[in-house]
Amino acid sequence: MDFKEHIIEKIIDITELDRETVEKSIEIPPDEKMGDFAFPCFPLAKIMHKAPPLIAAELAEKLSDDDMIDKAEAAGGYLNFFLNREKFIASTVTAARAAGDKWGASDMGGKRTVLVEYSSPNIAKPFHIGHLFTTAIGNSLARIYKHLGYNVVSLNHLGDWGTQFGKLICAYHRWGDREVIEKDPINEILKIYVKFHEEAEKNPALEDEAREYFKKLEDGDEETTALWQYFRDISLVEFKRVYDMLGVSFDSYNGEAFYSDKMDEVVELLREKGLLTLSDGAQVVDLSDLNIPPCIILKSDGATIYATRDIAAALYRHRTYDFYKNIYVVGTPQALHFRQIFEVIKRAGWEWGEGCEFVGFGLVKFPGKAMSTRHGDVVFLEDVLNEAIDKTREIIMSNGSEVDDIDEAAKKIGIGAILYTFLKNSREKDIIFSWESMLDFEGESAPYCQYGYARGRSILRRAEGIDYSRPDFGKAVSDEAYSLIKQLNAFGDAVKDAADKNEPFYINRYVTNLTKAFNKFYNTNPIMKEGTDEETRKARLAIVDAVTQVIRTALGLLGIETVESM
Ligand code: ARG
Repeated sequence: MDFKEHIIEKIIDITELDRETVEKSIEIPPDEKMGDFAFPCFPLAKIMHKAPPLIAAELAEKLSDDDMIDKAEAAGGYLNFFLNREKFIASTVTAARAAGDKWGASDMGGKRTVLVEYSSPNIAKPFHIGHLFTTAIGNSLARIYKHLGYNVVSLNHLGDWGTQFGKLICAYHRWGDREVIEKDPINEILKIYVKFHEEAEKNPALEDEAREYFKKLEDGDEETTALWQYFRDISLVEFKRVYDMLGVSFDSYNGEAFYSDKMDEVVELLREKGLLTLSDGAQVVDLSDLNIPPCIILKSDGATIYATRDIAAALYRHRTYDFYKNIYVVGTPQALHFRQIFEVIKRAGWEWGEGCEFVGFGLVKFPGKAMSTRHGDVVFLEDVLNEAIDKTREIIMSNGSEVDDIDEAAKKIGIGAILYTFLKNSREKDIIFSWESMLDFEGESAPYCQYGYARGRSILRRAEGIDYSRPDFGKAVSDEAYSLIKQLNAFGDAVKDAADKNEPFYINRYVTNLTKAFNKFYNTNPIMKEGTDEETRKARLAIVDAVTQVIRTALGLLGIETVESM
């Protein structure tokens, strides 16, 4: 039973307005005391030639007989609706429990394919905190679109090609030691890569050497390719370890290298369409009419670049997946790059380009002292994750918790705390990385929501043996229960908003508010306490059951796991 829908139909019925107008104008009053929904009668004044308050009063009259609505009240030019609380709680809780982890889901996706490209770290450069930001957002978006019935494909566009490989291979030949690298691949690869830059400052000839190595790689030289493959493989093993910790997985790791043999066609197609012009020896697509720099397709030495690989990748994705949306979760410093390549795609007449979307995000800032890390000034992801887990373990131990598997709990809570932080605000905002607020069990944090869930689960464990499958919800009506169930009911809208704007923070805010309302509920509406009437207890238990389920589903859409006790 959809109460909003019911009210919309009622209003259409008595006003004869069209559905769109009614749907658009219906509001949620700022204060719960003013009702659950409000319909502003101002637009009707013109049609009915009457003052809005009068219209509101007349409409209220006509609505008096409705068992889903407790009362409809005229207030100024507004018609305020108060739902029948018992009916609302009963129908929402019953529906949520029946839906299980499909609550808030929909089939609006209709199996259309949404590609979510995210994470995309670079080999030979560190997997840094910014990559954690894209990983958190992309992973969540993939889950959100799945919940809405889309066919989701997760892509990791690895930075596994480009001139830096020439440098890396050059460095390896000079200073590399396979045994040392194998012990700590990412760190060692980074070390020799950094050394290359230091040495090249003193000895510029190294740059030429590196260029030659990259040329060899592009020409498919066997030894060089094997070395490239080796670096890629060992880096992926490391990346995957981090992804496992985060509970993240990808359908494809086709990175930039994968497109290296697919670029001639792109260059040819753009040339045929007359889009290429010569500029300082390079082949570019001129975008000066938009007041942005040209998109370079072929450098003066004939080498293709990042942008060309991205255009080839987009074309390949269109052909392979026939996508409805092709989402790129990449930091805002690359916004211009994506604007350029989307524009080139448009000018090439490729209509599927409409489905390409850039989903940017801000910077991660560390207040005061830099974060402690054993690697110097680069913040390594795995270190951050491990630190979160260690800190969480300390907190749970000092809280005297009764968790069975403390390592497992510390991992889920610590990692959850980090993911939550990245999804807390609208994504383009910069993030201040603070352990205190991240691990504040009482503030707005993952542990706060996980704790609410665990509390609910522990209540349900204590209620074992009680049959609360068909309770009398009339016994559970209270202000706190009503606010809570209104939150429960709002989940579907939060999921849709999140997908609509590609903003997981809608879910984050949702689950935080749901947990807050839940906290208030179980603190003021006794459940297992002695003296609570048996029927009231059953109705409240059903509410706890539904709410814990939804907290878990909502956290799940953020990639955050729950624990049964903490
Ligand atoms: N590897 C790039 C980086 O770390 C991000 C790749 C973004 N994706 C793309 N299709 N260009 O900065």
